[in-house]
Amino acid sequence: MALEELFISLGFYIWIIIFSIIGLLYWYLNVPPNLPPGSAGLPIVGYLPYISSPPYKGFSSLEKKFGPIFHLYLGNRLVIVLNDYVAIKEAFIKQADVFAGRIRDANFVRNDSERHGVVNDDGEYWKQHRRFVLHNLRDNGVGKLTFEPLLLNEIRHFLAELKKHSGKPTPMKDILYCSLSNNVHLLVTGNRYDYEHPTIQRMIRALHNFSEHGQPLAFHTFFPWISKIPGSNRITKHELRWQDMDEIISIANGIVTDNNRDRQAQYECLVDAYIDEMKSNEGNLKSIFSKNGLLHVCRDLMTAGAETSSRTMLWGMIYLTNHPEVQKKAQKEIDAVIGRDREPSYNDRSQTPYTVAMITEIHRIVSLVPMALPHRNMKEIKVLGYTIPKDTMIIANLWHANNDPKLWGDPENFRPERFIGSDGRLVIPEYFVPFSIGKRACAGEPLARMELYLYFTSLLQHFDIISLDGAKLPLDGSEKVTRSPIFDVICVRERSTE
Ligand code: HEM
Repeated sequence: MALEELFISLGFYIWIIIFSIIGLLYWYLNVPPNLPPGSAGLPIVGYLPYISSPPYKGFSSLEKKFGPIFHLYLGNRLVIVLNDYVAIKEAFIKQADVFAGRIRDANFVRNDSERHGVVNDDGEYWKQHRRFVLHNLRDNGVGKLTFEPLLLNEIRHFLAELKKHSGKPTPMKDILYCSLSNNVHLLVTGNRYDYEHPTIQRMIRALHNFSEHGQPLAFHTFFPWISKIPGSNRITKHELRWQDMDEIISIANGIVTDNNRDRQAQYECLVDAYIDEMKSNEGNLKSIFSKNGLLHVCRDLMTAGAETSSRTMLWGMIYLTNHPEVQKKAQKEIDAVIGRDREPSYNDRSQTPYTVAMITEIHRIVSLVPMALPHRNMKEIKVLGYTIPKDTMIIANLWHANNDPKLWGDPENFRPERFIGSDGRLVIPEYFVPFSIGKRACAGEPLARMELYLYFTSLLQHFDIISLDGAKLPLDGSEKVTRSPIFDVICVRERSTE
């Protein structure tokens, strides 16, 4: 009897071993043919345990092993990493339409039938919304002089706020968040808010949570089945991300439906233009313009627009504290070209190449969205001779392209001069890609460039950014979908008049 029990239990273990071997064989033999080099890693978890943190640096270091384009299984999901500029360009520029898809996973989308505006959608719905946003920004003079007075007005508020803190180390994150998100509010709704206003305070809390809960390699992206298990949210926290998005949508709804919106009369803000578009499409069953679409577009612009520009400003202020020599050089140029009495204009940039180079260097060294947002190829396609199966998750390592020693020589050094040619003019190489490239490149790039130029020139015109004890500020970042400085206490001091 005892022998029989032993046999039965041994049989059980033998079956487990047989199943494991079959599973392993299936796992390894099921890798599609002609993939770029790479690794399937371990069963179930794939290569995830081997990727060092932060992931963009982990991928970067894999270049020596696998080359500029490689495949990895993360969980049981096939991922292609475009690790250098050539690979990114081959895919995102040369095969732009194919690579314009997005991954719609539990990180962003509750269920597959949900439509999502610009950032998380693709196909015709995304195409029309993206076109609408780009046209609206252009029509409202973003990147041109017509939007400038509104930006300069916001900058006046920003400088007045800084004046209150002159000479005192001050947490800067929220001040920047309020000011830079006001620019998006202006475009979207025609409104700005005082920094203490409950709406903007609620919004920056929601945006902050949204950013904190967004993981670059989120658990539920690679183990999608996990979100179906009751209680799994306690581990993966994916519902928190949805709640943050709901909160932003709810704030957007409040703003959009506020009949007392104090609109700037001189232009048609995005909400009004969208409502006009909805009206002109009434009765057209194929129209993609809807109240739901409007709220998602507002949410997209608020999430994508406020955090990115404000965090880039904050990183810039940290780098300038640590590099007073760069700051002095830019101030000298700004004093000579603009002076202290007139407000800067976006047109001044041709006369201030060093200041533009300084801002460009901040973008490069920070690479705020280091792995862009994941793309998806919408059909099977060849890149650099390798075959990528349809619907694969594609990660572009923008950080590596912006910090590749083969292209930049000394990428670790903060050195704006790298963008100045021997004739003293600005030279920006094509492999500078903080906004990504191709059909999914940042839709707000013209706004971000204009903001950062006018904010930095105004700031340096009137303030020195200083370290009171001469110590360098730490460069540690909270590495989420974007990179956010952990340290945010900055000291600005009004410049003396001499
Ligand atoms: C320093 C500032 C900014 C940086 C570094 C930045 C960078 C990026 C990057 C890397 C992407 C992903 C591109 C890809 O997936 O290939 C992106 C997407 C996007 N950005 Fe920005 N961005 C900035 C500011 C802004 C602003 C101010 C707005 C709008 C108000 C904006 C709106 C968007 C939108 C709508 C998308 C999604 C585009 C699409 O999927 O078609 N961004 N951005």
